[in-house]
Amino acid sequence: MAEKSKIILLSGLQPTGPLHLGNYLGAVRNFVRLQDEFAGRFFVFVADYHSLTENYDPKEKQNQILMLGAELLAAGLDPKKVTLYVQSDIPEVTELCWVFNTVTPISFLERMTQFKDKASRQKENINMGLFDYPVLQAADILLPKAAAVPVGEDQVQHVELTRDIARFFNRKFGETFPESKPVLTATPRVMSLSEPEKKMSKSIPGSFISLSDSPEEIKQALRRAVTDTGPGPGRSDLPRRSDLQAMSPGVANLFGLLREFGTPEDVGAMERAYRGGTIKYVELKDLLAARIAEYFSEFRKKRAQLLKNPSAVKKIFAAGGKKIRAIASKTMREVRQKVGLR
Ligand code: ADP
Ligand code: TRP
Repeated sequence: MAEKSKIILLSGLQPTGPLHLGNYLGAVRNFVRLQDEFAGRFFVFVADYHSLTENYDPKEKQNQILMLGAELLAAGLDPKKVTLYVQSDIPEVTELCWVFNTVTPISFLERMTQFKDKASRQKENINMGLFDYPVLQAADILLPKAAAVPVGEDQVQHVELTRDIARFFNRKFGETFPESKPVLTATPRVMSLSEPEKKMSKSIPGSFISLSDSPEEIKQALRRAVTDTGPGPGRSDLPRRSDLQAMSPGVANLFGLLREFGTPEDVGAMERAYRGGTIKYVELKDLLAARIAEYFSEFRKKRAQLLKNPSAVKKIFAAGGKKIRAIASKTMREVRQKVGLR
């Protein structure tokens, strides 16, 4: 137990828009669980430096930062158990990123799938920050020497790179950093509603449901969700398959969400209807919409309250910033000395 409590946990999210079901099921719900089950230090931060690598309006950024803070708190993050801070409040992280740049082979960064994806989506803005993004992420993780990183599946490659960077640094300058590991949930990759072969993502409109969406918005988003796509003109809306494994990706995704937000009876009834070939997808969608709306009703209330009182969120950020800064300056003293800067 004593050993366990020494492990440091850390995760970050970019302030680029409201949290969606993928963020919740892949990461945020896990934060809330881990903060109770886990006795060690736990850091969660708003990755605002990272978010500058995408196209954005500077006038919006402060609101996005506050909104993410409010949403994390509304989702159940407890600032007594988790240190919540804003990345740019610790400029040391960019200094550590620079040192890490000097031990990171370019070829490792060229392999990053998120970079390749984003570069293909913003061809007019393939900036150096986008390329260096995973090295800054390694600095986030290793500044407080975090060993466990709760994230969705799309971030696993970045956490593995963090481990490589820690190894390169330790080999060159002596044992300093832990080898961090990702911590995944049972739902590490929630799929897009509109293109269910891809992950649900803020950057793909129509792909997601936000936690802050109204019951009507949730219903409309689900009504538009893709279900069975084949096999052409003669197709029936009633699936004839008896096997749940054979579900199309869109239907499987909706069932996956129903398992998270519905009751066991909801799931049982819909699975029976699917197997029997009597399922009506509009009924599955409307049931799911009602369950999601219910699940997040408390979240919507708390979020609205916090957004009316942003000074409460700012205070929590300030207290978190103070804690992480003390740790950051200690790590940076050690790093500067090890690399020969002073
Ligand atoms: P997005 O990709 O929508 O911009 P972020 O990059 O801000 O989301 O991700 C924040 C956290 O949510 C990360 O831990 C990420 O792995 C997780 N996450 C994002 N999308 C999904 C998804 N579709 N399924 C599961 N987890 C996800
Ligand atoms: N790259 C992460 C994302 O897109 C956000 C992030 C930045 C992060 N730094 C981190 C996640 C450190 C975990 C640990 O979701």
